[in-house]
Amino acid sequence: MKVSGLSRRFGTTAALDDVSFSLPRGQVLGIIGRSGAGKSTLIRCLNGLERPDSGRVEIDGRDIAPLSESALQAERRRIGMIFQHFNLLSSRTVLDNVALPLKLAGIAKRERRDRAAALLARVGLAGHERKYPAQLSGGQKQRVGIARALASDPVLLLCDEATSALDPETTVSILALLRDINREFGLTIVMITHEMNVARRIADRVLVMEKGRAVEEGPVRDVLTAPQAEETRVLLHAASLGFEDGEGI
Ligand SMILES: Nc1ncnc2c1ncn2[C@@H]1O[C@H](COP(=O)(O)OP(=O)(O)OP(=O)(O)O)[C@@H](O)[C@H]1O
Ligand SMILES: [Mg+2]
Repeated sequence: MKVSGLSRRFGTTAALDDVSFSLPRGQVLGIIGRSGAGKSTLIRCLNGLERPDSGRVEIDGRDIAPLSESALQAERRRIGMIFQHFNLLSSRTVLDNVALPLKLAGIAKRERRDRAAALLARVGLAGHERKYPAQLSGGQKQRVGIARALASDPVLLLCDEATSALDPETTVSILALLRDINREFGLTIVMITHEMNVARRIADRVLVMEKGRAVEEGPVRDVLTAPQAEETRVLLHAASLGFEDGEGI
């Protein structure tokens, strides 16, 4: 994936200001930064939910920024996304939630049910197929979210604060699952997180955002042990004091 010169304004706010970075296939990128730094706007530009004012978003060598809405829809099937609040359909069973993207892709009922069941087994939810989301714990709901994201066989998985609603132990188990999936499928993952420890645990590379700008990017070990940008130092210091999200400073 290659992002170059990405900018997006909302009125007078530069949510993204000339952001560039690249990520080799199969790697995990952690995006960190304070509230309002532009992290969600950036990740939404990666699947075309947000249109940049300028810049390129190349996924597998193809720039998705100028695509029409219908072309984007096809492209989006190759991009999975998981969310902080899971975004499951409460009136559908767990199996149907996972099978829905397959239905939208026109796959026959029998096959999509088989594939959804296999995905649920892969994320550790065999036996829960007929339950409804309300009957699951937060960690289990996120596992359904991950199975649903994997259903369309994506090349890229985007995660916006995917563990922020979970307790520390559940967070660790979800991160381990994502890491396993990353290795097993060679899936590229971009993960926004408020928590430095999440980045430390799962990311290969880290991108630090401040006021719409990418102020630092590099291998996780370098960024966390020898930060170059003042903002990275501030975020690391806040994390060491227990202000994980940097908002307490
Ligand atoms: N649809 C929108 N309309 C107007 N302003 C927006 C919109 N989306 C984002 N912004 C503004 O752009 C800036 C970046 O927002 P963004 O949601 O990308 O930040 P973030 O880093 O994800 O923050 P958080 O950690 O709180 O989720 C903020 O100033 C925000 O108010
Ligand atoms: Mg956000």
